Amino acid sequence: MSDTATPTVIRREDYAPPAFLIDTVDLEFDLVPERTVVKSTLRVRRNPAARHADNLELMGEQLEFIGAAIDGTPYEHVRTQEHGLTVLNVPDAFTLTLTGACDPAANTTLSGLYVSSGNFFTQCEAEGFRRITWFLDRPDVMSTFTVTLRADKTQYPVLLSNGNLIEEGDLPDNRHFAKWEDPFRKPSYLFALVAGKLVALEERIQSGSGKEKLLQVWVEPHDLDKTRHAMDSLIHSIRWDEQRFGLELDLDRFMIVAVSDFNMGAMENKGLNIFNTKYVLANPETATDVDFANIEAVVGHEYFHNWTGNRVTCRDWFQLSLKEGLTVFRDQEFSAAMSGGDENEAARATKRIEDVRVLRQMQFAEDAGPMAHPVRPESYVEINNFYTMTVYEKGSEVVRMYQTLFGRDGFRKGMDLYFQRHDGQAVTCDDFRRAMADANGRDLAQFERWYSQAGTPRIAVTTRYDEAARTYSVTLSQGYGNGSAAARETQKGPLHIPFAIGLIDANGADLPLRLEGEASAQGTTRVLEFTETQQTFTFVDVAARPLPSLLRNFSAPVIVDYDYGNDELAFLLAHDSDPFNRWEAGQRLATRELLALAARAAAGQPLQMSDALVSAFSRVLTDASLSPSFRELALMLPSETYLAEQMSESDPAAVHAARQFVRKQLATALKADWLAAYERNVTPGAYEPTPEAAGHRGLKNLALSYLSELDDPADAVRLATAQYDAANNMTDRAAALSALLNAQAATGRDVARAALEDFYARFEKEPLVIDKWFSLQATQRGTAERPTIETVRALMRHAAFNLKNPNRARSLIFSFCAANPAQFHAADGSGYAFWADQVIALDALNPQVAARLARTLELWRRFTPALRDKMRAALERVAAEVKSRDVREIVEKALA
Ligand code: TRP
Ligand code: ZN
Repeated sequence: MSDTATPTVIRREDYAPPAFLIDTVDLEFDLVPERTVVKSTLRVRRNPAARHADNLELMGEQLEFIGAAIDGTPYEHVRTQEHGLTVLNVPDAFTLTLTGACDPAANTTLSGLYVSSGNFFTQCEAEGFRRITWFLDRPDVMSTFTVTLRADKTQYPVLLSNGNLIEEGDLPDNRHFAKWEDPFRKPSYLFALVAGKLVALEERIQSGSGKEKLLQVWVEPHDLDKTRHAMDSLIHSIRWDEQRFGLELDLDRFMIVAVSDFNMGAMENKGLNIFNTKYVLANPETATDVDFANIEAVVGHEYFHNWTGNRVTCRDWFQLSLKEGLTVFRDQEFSAAMSGGDENEAARATKRIEDVRVLRQMQFAEDAGPMAHPVRPESYVEINNFYTMTVYEKGSEVVRMYQTLFGRDGFRKGMDLYFQRHDGQAVTCDDFRRAMADANGRDLAQFERWYSQAGTPRIAVTTRYDEAARTYSVTLSQGYGNGSAAARETQKGPLHIPFAIGLIDANGADLPLRLEGEASAQGTTRVLEFTETQQTFTFVDVAARPLPSLLRNFSAPVIVDYDYGNDELAFLLAHDSDPFNRWEAGQRLATRELLALAARAAAGQPLQMSDALVSAFSRVLTDASLSPSFRELALMLPSETYLAEQMSESDPAAVHAARQFVRKQLATALKADWLAAYERNVTPGAYEPTPEAAGHRGLKNLALSYLSELDDPADAVRLATAQYDAANNMTDRAAALSALLNAQAATGRDVARAALEDFYARFEKEPLVIDKWFSLQATQRGTAERPTIETVRALMRHAAFNLKNPNRARSLIFSFCAANPAQFHAADGSGYAFWADQVIALDALNPQVAARLARTLELWRRFTPALRDKMRAALERVAAEVKSRDVREIVEKALA
C-alpha cells in the first residue's frame, strides 16, 4: 500500500518506518485569504532503515498543484492524486521544491490553514499539515523548519511562526515579511503560523539557569485586559517544571495566541501555542473560578508538552497517550501543587476528586460502549476520533500508577532516564515504560497490559477478621465484569495494580499496618501490588475488626466492589484520613440511595428517602474542620449521567425524578444549614481567584442551588436576585442566574427573565460569556409546559447563534445533548431528531466537531427499549446521510 492511499482501517501492527527522511523544510507563504500560495523546499534523503522505494509518496489534501522542481530544475514526473502526490524515480538525496495553493477563507474544518475573525491560524495535529502543503505528514519524520511569511502590512501587521524571529522587513505594495527559524527538529504536526491584527501582553523572565526569556500572550486588541491570568499561569508552569522535573524552557521566546474558532482546547506547537480563547481570556467580570482553574491547567498542559510531546514525540499516532497521558498527569500534578502546594495532601485531594469524577463519568462510559479501546489503540479509521478520555484521562492514570509504585523520587528517576535516552526522538509507550522500569530496577512486563487491554477492571474485595489470630485478610479478585465486546476481546490476563489500602479502628484512627512476614508495621497506608487474578493480603497484630479504606486516593483506574453497610460508609465519610475516600464514601452512600429511588420511580412507586443520607450530609455541611471546597464536592450528588450509567437499563427520566427528589429533600431537611452556609461563605471585597476564595464561593453557590429546589424557593429567589445585582465576578453572577432558572422551572413563574435579559445585554460583546448564556439555557430543567428543546430550537434562530463557531455550537447543542439528559432523552424522541439534524449539518462544515456530537448517542444500546428504538432510528438516519470519515466511524461502530 502506498503512503498516500487511505485505507479504511489503520492498524498499529502495520507500522513501517518512512521510506524517506526530510532533514530541512523551508516554507514561504504568500498569505491571501482566498488563495494562499505555499512554496515548500525540502531536503530529502532515502531512509537507510527502511525498504527501498523508487518513488516519493507525499500526503496532501485539498491542495492546488502549481509546480515541482528537483535540485532547482523543474521536474515533470509528478502525479497528483486526491490524497497526495507522487514524485517518480527520485535520487537518494535531493532538494525538492513544491509550489501549491490552498483556500483558508473557505476552510470551515479548522484543520490546516484557516481564517478566523480576519486573521490567519493553523492547526496541524494530527493530520492538518497536509492541508497546507504536500509532506510526509507523520510524526516520525522530524525536520528543522524555516518559515517566511509575506502578507499585507495593514491587514496582517503581526506575522508569527515557531522558534525565533530572524529577519523582518517591508516589501513593495504595502506588504511585509517575517522570517522565523525553529532550531529544534520537529514533526509537521507541531508547525504553526499566525498572521493578523493582534496585540501581546509581554513579560521577560529568567529561566532557572539564568537565561533571558520573552513570554507573550497574543490576543485581539479588545481582549488585552483578559490576558494577565494566562501569563501568570505560564510563569507558574515554567517554574513548576523546573522545580519538579528539572525541565527548562529551551527557546528564547514562548508565545501563546488565542483564537475564537478552535476545535479543541489548545495546541502545543513548538514555541507558538495556539489556544481556544476559552482557555486564555479571563477577568473577574467574564470568567468563573472554574474558568480560571481551567486556564491554569490548559496553559500548564500545553507548556509541559514542550518536553513531553515536542522534545520527545510519538513514533506514530497509536502512541498518542505517550504524550497526552503523560502531559495530563503533569498538568494534574501542577494544578494540585498550585492549589495546595506539592505536599498538602488535603488541598491536593480536591483536584484529585474532580479528576476522578471526570474519569468515572466519561472514561468509564467510553470503555463500556462501542468506542472502547486500549490506552494504546490497535486500530483507527480517523485519528481525530482517538483524542479520547481513554487516551488522555485513563492514560494519565496509567502514568500516575508508576508514581504510586515508585514514589515521586522513583518517578523522577524514570523521567530523567526517559529524556536522557530519547531527547530528540519519536518513540513509543514501550520506551517510556522501559525507562521507568530500568530507572527503578523493576520488571514492568505485566504492567504493559494497562496499554493493551480495553475496559474498566473491576476488583471484588472480601475481608476476613480472625479474632484468635489477630489477623485481617483482604482478598482481591480482578476481572472485567460484562464490559463491551470490544473490551472483552483485548483481555490477556491480570493487571499489575497498585492497590492502596488503610485500616481504620472503631475510633476512626488509622492502624499501623504490618503484613504477614514483616518484622514491624510500616505506615498507615500501604500500596499492595496486586498482580494475580486473585490474591490475599494478610495484616497481623490487628486487635479488633477494622474498617477497610480501599483504593485510597484512587490508586488505580478500576471499580471496587465491596459490600459496605450504610453505617460504615457514614463512618468513613466522617473519619477516613484519606480525603479522597472520605468523599468516595459519601458518593457511594448517595449513589446507593439514588439508584434505589430511580428504580422506584421507574416502577411508578412513591419515593421516600432514608435518614442515612440526610444525617451524613448534615454532618458534612456543618463540619467547620472541613475546607469549603471539600464540603462542596462531598455535598454534590453524582450526576444524572453517571447514575444512569449505573443502571442495568439507563432511564434518564427515572434518574432525574430520583435526583430531584433527593435534592428537594436535602434542601428541605437542611434548609437552616444551607442558609447559614450561604451567609458564612460570602466573599466580600475585590474578587480573587485563589483556591480558598473559590472554595467559599463554591459552597455558597451550592447552598443557593439547593435552596432553589424548595417548594417555596422565595429565599433562593431573594438571595439570587441580590447576588446577581451585586456580583463583582462571573462566578457569582452565573450561579445566581442558574439558581433563578432553577426556581423558574420549579415554580413556573418568570423569576429568571429579567436577569437573563440583563445578562445578554451586559455581555453582548463578550463571546465567551454569551456562550454561558446559551449553555445555561440549554441545560436548564424543562417543564411539561415548556420542554427545554423548545428553548433550544428558539435559540438556534438567535442572531448570536453560529454553527460554524465550535464554542457556540458546543454552548447550545452539546450542552443540550450531553449535559441535560432528562430533557435530551425526552420520551417522544424529539431530542434525538434534533441531534441527527445537527450532526448532519455540522458534518458538512466541520467533521471533527460533528464526530464529537455524534458520540453523544453511542451508548444507545444501554437505554430502556422505548428510547433505544428511537435512538437507533436517529443513528441510522445519520449513517445514511453523512460523508466524513470522522462521523462515519462513530455511527458505524455504534450501529455494528
Ligand atoms: N495536542 C492537543 C493537546 O492535547 C490537542 C489537539 C489534538 C488538538 N488535535 C487537535 C487541538 C486539533 C486542536 C485541534 O494539547
Ligand atoms: Zn495534550
